[in-house]
Amino acid sequence: MLIIKVGATDSTNLHLKRMMAETELPDFTVLTANAQHKGRGQAGTHWISEPGKNLTFSVLKYFEGQEASGGFLISKVVSLALVEVLHALEIPELSIKWPNDIMSGNQKICGILIENTLKGQALIHSVIGIGINVNQSDFKNLPHAASLSQITGVQHDLDALLDRVLNSLEKNLQKLDKALGEGIHRSYDHLLFRRDSLAEFEIGGKIVPGIIRGVSPDGTLLLDREGRLESYALKEIAFRL
Ligand code: BTN
Repeated sequence: MLIIKVGATDSTNLHLKRMMAETELPDFTVLTANAQHKGRGQAGTHWISEPGKNLTFSVLKYFEGQEASGGFLISKVVSLALVEVLHALEIPELSIKWPNDIMSGNQKICGILIENTLKGQALIHSVIGIGINVNQSDFKNLPHAASLSQITGVQHDLDALLDRVLNSLEKNLQKLDKALGEGIHRSYDHLLFRRDSLAEFEIGGKIVPGIIRGVSPDGTLLLDREGRLESYALKEIAFRL
């Protein structure tokens, strides 16, 4: 594991990808930044994180013989690896809000942005970007964001936490080579935020009720809408918290 620490950058995902274009990096190269001024989130959103308070890092992972359709499996494994660490820190009411926000109750504590590079049907590598709200004490106009310190009442050591997360990621990503897909799907579904309970969603500009029943192997959300099971891709649907 190669760990590169930088002070400030635009985005650790972008920075790592620029380095990859210039030089051959080993598997599991980690780039972590104290501050990002252009942190990126899912679906073109921004990831805002107070400098020096939180973890913002990206991990390069190579794959051999992994089918592109397995892309979402990687996303599940990464979410589960994070939940494992947060569970050990006794963060209460952990769940995974599809596709891969880690929640404590109704508060988002961690976001994941995975960028996959494919060659035909094969997955070549992933840049796994992770932001964990650790010691930030104020999220201003983000009512559904919270940090670990707000939840636990204590400050957390950033280096020690990074170490734990990286070890968990490395261990869990090995499961992909061992064809442990079934167990991964089950554990992920089991942790799904608001599964089997009535919730509101925004679909095509309308607010509609629905019940989350699970996630398909290729990562679409399976929503029960008045008895009909429908499948939605990330760009087609948004949660109403
Ligand atoms: C989301 O919740 O929408 C995903 C947020 C991902 C944020 C992390 S912070 C480190 C890495 N670099 C980025 O620019 N984004 C990811």
